[in-house]
Amino acid sequence: MSSDHNHTYVEQSGASDESIQQVHAHAQAKKPEQPHGYAKFPLVLLGIMCTAIFFGSIYLAHYSAHFDPMIYNEHQKPSKGPAQVATITPAMLGKRVFNNTCIACHQASGQGVPGVYPPLAGSEWASGSEERIIRIVLHGLNGPVNVAGKDFNNAMAPLGAVLKDDQVANVLTYVRAEWGNNAPAVSAETVARIRAETATRTQAWTATELQPYAK
Ligand code: HEC
Repeated sequence: MSSDHNHTYVEQSGASDESIQQVHAHAQAKKPEQPHGYAKFPLVLLGIMCTAIFFGSIYLAHYSAHFDPMIYNEHQKPSKGPAQVATITPAMLGKRVFNNTCIACHQASGQGVPGVYPPLAGSEWASGSEERIIRIVLHGLNGPVNVAGKDFNNAMAPLGAVLKDDQVANVLTYVRAEWGNNAPAVSAETVARIRAETATRTQAWTATELQPYAK
């Protein structure tokens, strides 16, 4: 019995290359087949990550402000010349109001339309008394008027209901500083005061009526 067992043991230890290969081949044949190619799920995940990185880069390129230490580092001293902070002036805001509300008639050039809409560029009305032009914008202007040596006889609609005090102030500040005009800015407080003073008015002004406010 024991000699038989030993015999088998010896035979096993002396297994030939061929028999080892056979055993391996047998074992491998039993393994479940690996699917070919890549698994779908990790590919989707990879796709999502690439998309996130792609759009993330675009976002950073737009909004990182080049990681400016003036913005991101609270300890940074403003030593690298003037800070690049954009200041928005009343005239800049006024230009927006002008482009929305006045440009159709008075034109981007401020030249108006000959015989129809008077110019604001070089106009003694635009650069003159603020008492007068604030009234014009709030309640309109009607009938004959002489602007920069030319006669007009038309009507400008009242804009007091559409424009707030600061919008009137800003647009007039813009008009008085643009196209070579050089008159002082108009404040929202002045507009508010004149709006209160003329609160009961319903008609547009005439040039004659505005004479007392010419100075
Ligand atoms: C619908 C056309 C129209 C719009 C919009 C308009 N205006 Fe006028 N504006 C006129 C006309 C027309 C006159 C002259 C009225 C007349 O003949 O009595 C005038 C006159 C004026 C005058 C006095 C005369 C001059 O040319 O200097 C000023 C100042 C003025 N407008 C400013 C403005 C401002 C500021 C806005 C925008 C907030 C504006 N207007 C919007 C048509 C318009």
